[in-house]
Amino acid sequence: MGKETYDVIVIGAGPGGYVAAIRGAQLGMKVACVEKSDLGGTCLNVGCIPSKALLESSQLYHQAHTTFSKHGITTGEVGLDLAAMLKRKDSIVRRMTGGIKGLLKKNKVTHLQGLGRVKGSGTVEVVDGKDSGTYSAKHIVIATGSSPVELPFLPFDGHCVVSSTEALTFETVPERMIVIGAGAIGLELGSVWSRLGTEVLVIELLDQICAGMDTEMSTELQKSLKKQGIAFELAAKASGAEVKDGWIHVSIEAGGETREEVCDRLLVAVGRRPHTDGLGAEEAGLELDERRQIKVNGRYETNLSGVHAIGDVIEGPMLAHKAEEEGVAVMELLAGKAGHVNYDTVPGVVYTHPELASVGMTEEAAREKHGDVKIGKFPFAANGRAHCLEDTEGMVKIIAHPETDRVLGVHILGGRASEMLSEAVLAMEFSGSAEDIASTVHAHPTLPEAMKEAALAVAKEAIHI
Ligand code: NAI
Repeated sequence: MGKETYDVIVIGAGPGGYVAAIRGAQLGMKVACVEKSDLGGTCLNVGCIPSKALLESSQLYHQAHTTFSKHGITTGEVGLDLAAMLKRKDSIVRRMTGGIKGLLKKNKVTHLQGLGRVKGSGTVEVVDGKDSGTYSAKHIVIATGSSPVELPFLPFDGHCVVSSTEALTFETVPERMIVIGAGAIGLELGSVWSRLGTEVLVIELLDQICAGMDTEMSTELQKSLKKQGIAFELAAKASGAEVKDGWIHVSIEAGGETREEVCDRLLVAVGRRPHTDGLGAEEAGLELDERRQIKVNGRYETNLSGVHAIGDVIEGPMLAHKAEEEGVAVMELLAGKAGHVNYDTVPGVVYTHPELASVGMTEEAAREKHGDVKIGKFPFAANGRAHCLEDTEGMVKIIAHPETDRVLGVHILGGRASEMLSEAVLAMEFSGSAEDIASTVHAHPTLPEAMKEAALAVAKEAIHI
């Protein structure tokens, strides 16, 4: 079986791998992409896409109870058909993964079904699949992604103690859910179930939610989530748990004391680990770092000649769009072009309501590096469109260099923050200044006018506050 030779074999068909494969094919290479399960990886199957589908549905359900009446819309009793909600999510996933199959075909990328293993430079072994066999390639790109981390004292059981994967498929609304970890996964899936009626408690080791994001903004987000009914226990550690009669008894250490909380579902969202097991990486001599991520240089080259790695298996934020950019860059480099990723402008979004969207430096980091930075803020409460949308929580915050006015970071807390962020990313990509954003015409009435006003506020020239 399988003796074919390729220019590039990509291992993994998540957003990093399938995008790399398509870009390689566009550049004239003969490309195969190995995938052991469904195309699209975590993002499409059990991550970004299904979670956003449920976030949208649950937010509408929540709005039906809260804001419809403000719009003058009266309803009968609003009911929940959870099975239909989950079915809709699944059909979106099917549509999107089907789309990738079509894209690979259109670009003449060979899909090799099975588990890809690196056998050294130039050789990939595919096992456990219909395309099992040994294949050779001039270049190998490892894009095998990551999977949820388990707590040592609390292994996933797929039912009571779950990862994000199972938390997308609960067939009934949990009575009480404890979420361990206040990162993007914990807050997004905590929000979904809270909106659908679950009592949610989030336990976080650090003293702030959304670690690494701008503290002022994450504190504001926490206030909003608290108002929605989500409880938080910060600077607290989940240190043990026991399942008794379908209830999980969780030990929580906080303030020098240990107490117990009980729930029927426990979501462990304490990070993800790179998928390097089963890859044959170490046997092949591939160098890993202490977090078991694959070591690469600036050209995504590993220590093995012709073997490259991108996405969650290498250093950097575990984000689909970061992996995609790296997928494009590595193929362009292989084709002799100037592939490049600007890591200073990789956006990050937490899709709660309001959403927290961010690019560049936090206020803390900017102050540490540049001293007395200039900051402009504008609240959505002063934006006409936000009032029309009945969505006035949050603000835009722009951080600019004290002398040059160059935009160093932009943080948006707001109902549609994710959709507004691209303007800031683009401005930063072009090394733009706050004045550049301020002097750009923004359509009225739109939410991005809040971006313009925040940019004006950097120079203390905002019009509407
Ligand atoms: P995370 O690393 O973002 O957050 C995990 C949190 O758990 C940390 O704040 C940590 O302090 C806390 N923690 C660890 N052990 C704990 C314990 N024993 N008790 C209490 N708290 C504890 O991890 P998360 O949310 O699981 O996400 C994994 C990856 O997936 C991240 O890289 C994230 O950026 C990415 N992701 C991104 C999304 C987005 O962009 N919207 C959505 C989902 C995931």
